[in-house]
Amino acid sequence: MRLAAVGDLHVKKTSQGQLQPLLAPVNEHADLLLLCGDLTDYGLKEEAVILAKELTAAVRIPIVAVLGNHDYESGQHQEVCRILTEAGVHMLDGEAYEVQGVGIAGAKGFSGGFGRATLGAWGEPAIKRFVQEAIDEAIKLEGALARLRTQRRIALLHYSPIRATVEGEPVEIMAYLGTSRLEEPLNRHPVDFVFHGHAHHGALEGRTSTGIPVYNVAMPLLLQKFPGRPPFRVVEVAAAPASETAAALENATKFPGVRQPPIVSTADGAGT
Ligand SMILES: [Fe+2]
Ligand SMILES: [Fe+2]
Repeated sequence: MRLAAVGDLHVKKTSQGQLQPLLAPVNEHADLLLLCGDLTDYGLKEEAVILAKELTAAVRIPIVAVLGNHDYESGQHQEVCRILTEAGVHMLDGEAYEVQGVGIAGAKGFSGGFGRATLGAWGEPAIKRFVQEAIDEAIKLEGALARLRTQRRIALLHYSPIRATVEGEPVEIMAYLGTSRLEEPLNRHPVDFVFHGHAHHGALEGRTSTGIPVYNVAMPLLLQKFPGRPPFRVVEVAAAPASETAAALENATKFPGVRQPPIVSTADGAGT
């Protein structure tokens, strides 16, 4: 199964007609489209309606999505979710979605920093509430991962679980772009790939401490790094017996137009 992923569409009231030409090529290059949050710019119902029309017109493959922080801006995230769900998008918020032996666990995630600099729940109640939000999102992700019974497993996030894919952003804001708290469940319940957005100026890829590939698929980043190509990243997930070491075939180019031999990645992170 070929999975295409992109985040940070940031659809505005004025975006009608702009997304269709960007996303239409996905039909021939993938079997499933994953959307990594910031689907709208201000989290408005009107924006969601425009996005729903764009997706319905352009995309003929199933779509699975999580919301991003922008989708919460106007307090209409439930409406945004409902509009997209009615348009056929499978919205995940701590749930899992399975199709053809591939399971997708999705959650928005949250910020809080990475590694030893991860913000701790200590001091003022406001800090503790902030940290609790990150913990709650990590629990949502873990719950979704724990429910997956498929051979192939994908994690879908908006915020980054690792520092490597936010590198390139100003160091002052890195802690707002994700948190290692999201990495812990990924290492406990391994997946084949992790996709996230949010870091518009981050790095394209990294790995968790256990070697799981992590892709930042923020659309502004893809457009900047791969100008002239459709703004989504494609990976191919190969079916295999569950007893085998998890292996996934990855399309090395990720984009149409330039085909290269696939990279073989294994569950322990070794790759060629
Ligand atoms: Fe964004
Ligand atoms: Fe964001």
